[in-house]
Amino acid sequence: MKRIGILGYPLSHSISPEFQQAALDHHEIKATFHRWEVTADDLNSFFETIRDSNFIGASVTIPYKEKCLDLVDEITESARLIGAINCIVNRDNVLVGHNTDGSGFIRALKTKYGFEPSGKKVLIIGAGGAAKAIAYSLIQEGISQLTIANRTITRAEELAQRLERNGLKINSIKLDKQTLVAPLSNVDLIVNTTSIGMKNGPDPQHSPIPPDLIPQNAIINDIVYNPIETPLIKAAKLKQAPTIGGLDMLVYQGVEAFELWTKTLAPETIMYDAAQKALRS
Ligand code: ATR
Repeated sequence: MKRIGILGYPLSHSISPEFQQAALDHHEIKATFHRWEVTADDLNSFFETIRDSNFIGASVTIPYKEKCLDLVDEITESARLIGAINCIVNRDNVLVGHNTDGSGFIRALKTKYGFEPSGKKVLIIGAGGAAKAIAYSLIQEGISQLTIANRTITRAEELAQRLERNGLKINSIKLDKQTLVAPLSNVDLIVNTTSIGMKNGPDPQHSPIPPDLIPQNAIINDIVYNPIETPLIKAAKLKQAPTIGGLDMLVYQGVEAFELWTKTLAPETIMYDAAQKALRS
């Protein structure tokens, strides 16, 4: 039996094992998907273990997405530009680091929602690791305008500077009601990448955008997946704005990873249903 797994610490909340195993079983691939809760001290020896040919690869989550860049043997160009990996493929004992967070996000937008990012105006809330992968991928897709709003403005400015090497002028602003008014009045897609609204997070009860400012004609995408209906998604639905929940990005980064590991088309609906079931249980 071959092995794949998710690497992180802690891992108690991860639902990747459930939806990845459902995909492996669907295709009758003889592999098991594990939870690899590894401490920082054990990370180097863990990497020696997964070079073995019994290991197909791994998903990587918090807090190792950046640290693993130095531990794999090769990284893809997009993972290098994003500065993080969330997927490792064991290619004949050579560990290759990929980033499927951004590509999975784009795939969900395009294939599940028919949203074509090219030429669109985007507002990203937050300036952490998830924002970086999403912003990079949207720029690659040819969006025409990007605003990054963050509580700590210097972090938004740093991210904008880093991304501007890709050619698009980026507007960075502080996340507050006054400064959000203008970008919210002319935007096609809004993505929340902060943990505001997340169960057990720093601010579970609130929406990152004041509900009265949510525009009706932009797509509201919250990458927080627990709860499935965050305060932002609830407020957007009340305004009858189109919404995309966080489970899509989670599942589609896994869809892309599954295809890299197995070279087999991922059963998207089966994975999404298994993820939803795992979250509810
Ligand atoms: P990730 O890798 O998941 O993106 P991160 O790098 O820690 O996580 O980034 C978290 C993001 O959520 C940041 O943009 C953070 O804002 P700051 O840069 O000001 O810290 C944002 N965030 C987290 N809690 C927040 C809160 N209560 N209010 C506003 N922004 C918050």
